Amino acid sequence: MEIYFYLGKGGTGKTTISASFSIGIAYYNKNRNFLIASLDPAHNLGDAFDIELSNNIKKLTENLSAVEVDLEKMIKEYLNDLSTNLRNTYKYLASFNLDRYFDILRYSPGIEEYAVLESIKKFLNMNEFDALIFDTPPTGITTRVLALPKLTLMWTKRLMDIRRKILDKRKMVENVKGKTEAIIGDEVITLTADEKEDQIMIELVNYGKEMENLMKLFQSDLTKINIVTLPEDLALFETKRIIESLNKFNIKVNEIYLNKYLIFDNPPEVIKGKLIEQERVIGKMKDEIKNINIKDIPLLSQSPRGIEDLLKFYDNYILV
Ligand SMILES: Nc1ncnc2c1ncn2[C@@H]1O[C@H](COP(=O)(O)OP(=O)(O)OP(=O)(O)O)[C@@H](O)[C@H]1O
Ligand SMILES: [Mg+2]
Repeated sequence: MEIYFYLGKGGTGKTTISASFSIGIAYYNKNRNFLIASLDPAHNLGDAFDIELSNNIKKLTENLSAVEVDLEKMIKEYLNDLSTNLRNTYKYLASFNLDRYFDILRYSPGIEEYAVLESIKKFLNMNEFDALIFDTPPTGITTRVLALPKLTLMWTKRLMDIRRKILDKRKMVENVKGKTEAIIGDEVITLTADEKEDQIMIELVNYGKEMENLMKLFQSDLTKINIVTLPEDLALFETKRIIESLNKFNIKVNEIYLNKYLIFDNPPEVIKGKLIEQERVIGKMKDEIKNINIKDIPLLSQSPRGIEDLLKFYDNYILV
């Protein structure tokens, strides 16, 4: 399965370009099934298609579906799953007020990133689509989501080390006193010192494997990260920052879309400065960013909207 991400600063054209790409690729690959999902809490993917979208996957054409992910709902589901899991694994926590803890967790930093990652995982596991296309919120959160599997894997390994030490201690006690027992309510539970039987270790190993697979997927050629940017200085800095921060996690950028490129035969005086900046930025970008294809897309006199416009946009500017 291929995954496409469109990321960049606010208002650069991520939604327009990802929507247009999804329409085009689906149109020219009728034997493959595509899904475009907006991960931006301030959704406007439906506006670009001129079709009302929601958290339920909707078919736009024979082989293209679209969805606007409800991140609040995703966070709630994620925390609920965590809470159930925790209750099952650590039975003795039943005596704590877990609900209050989870109410606070909702506001903890990083929770949105995990919810976005859960959402991506959910679409991957559906096995219904050959390619997923993600329209994302302005930069920050998406680069963090892409980094998350590797970071999570690092701390999962650390937690496994700690758990292993606990089990070793338990083994030592077991050798002297026999199996450790815990009494929870009326129930007597025998605690294992064996890694392969310890529920928490099993949980950590499985979670680690899941994160490793995601990390490898994001680092592989199946994941295509596309940056949408503008021919302006600040946008150039941002583009370089995205490339650098993804590089730290061994994630490559596939393509750069230099959108809203200004074309004038006889430019009016007020725009001349902007055109000079544009040429300078484009020159610098092509100079400083090697090995990544840069595509120019002109600023059109009218915003492309609706399936027909978006297909035309794909044919004229994205396919080339
Ligand atoms: N090449 C273009 N020519 C003309 N208008 C464009 C072009 N690309 C995008 N637009 C228009 O610019 C506006 C911003 O584009 P879009 O919503 O795709 O950006 P975005 O990066 O998704 O923004 P946000 O960060 O707010 O989600 C929209 O009105 C869109 O129709
Ligand atoms: Mg957008």
